[in-house]
This record gives sequence, structure tokens and C-alpha cells, in this order.
Amino acid sequence: MAFIICDDLYATGIESIDEQHKHLISLLNRMFEALFQKKGKDKLAYVIDEMKKYAVYHFSTEESLMEKAGFTGLTDHCAFHELFTSKVNDFSEKFDLQDEALTAEVTIFLTNWINEHLSMVDQQYVPALKNAGIT
Ligand SMILES: [Fe+2]
Repeated sequence: MAFIICDDLYATGIESIDEQHKHLISLLNRMFEALFQKKGKDKLAYVIDEMKKYAVYHFSTEESLMEKAGFTGLTDHCAFHELFTSKVNDFSEKFDLQDEALTAEVTIFLTNWINEHLSMVDQQYVPALKNAGIT
């Protein structure tokens, strides 16, 4: 059961980025599904691990494309990415400490990130990338 089904809301029109964003959305859908089945905790290690990997490969994809396009908001955008990375590291530490509230915390963070970063912050670099011929 998918809880976020409208990937188009988050689309940038840049293929490599959209594919990676879809993976993050699928992680949130998995969390919702697991929570619905009262198995949120079972999925948590996998989701945090995937978020860690995502922070490395996805942010390097975005940042190198923004740099290539000469996007002037690059530094500000990188600061958001650093925030995500440090939050994920924080989740990882809390997981090791068996923090009971962590499942909800990760789910809320992912929901907010998708709604704010993917649908608003990421949209800011789209014109610069398109002008640079990046699709
Ligand atoms: Fe981004």
C-alpha cells in the first residue's frame, strides 16, 4: 500500500535526480506501511541505513549538477544537505541506544523532508540546470 502515490508533485524533470528521489519516497511509504502493520521498528534499521547511503550518493549527484550548472544557491543548498546528514547520523546513534520514540521521529522527519526539501528547495535549482542543458 503506497501512502504517497503522486511522485509528480516532487518531480524536477531531471531523470537521475527524480529516480533517486523516488527511492526516498519509497522508504517513507515502507515506513508508513510498517507502522500501519505495527511493525515500524522492524523496518527502522533498513530505512536508516538507506537514508545514510542516500545522503552520500544523492547529495553528491545534486551538488555536482548544481556546480556544473553554476547555480548560485549551491552553498545554501549544501547546508540543507548537511542538516539531513547530521540528522541521519543522530538517528543511527539513537537506534544503537534503542530509543523507543525513534520510529515516529524518523517517519516525521522523512515526511517533512519530502514535503519541504523535495517539493520546494530542490525546485530552486531546476531552472539553472535546465538552462545548462541538464535533463
Ligand atoms: Fe537537495
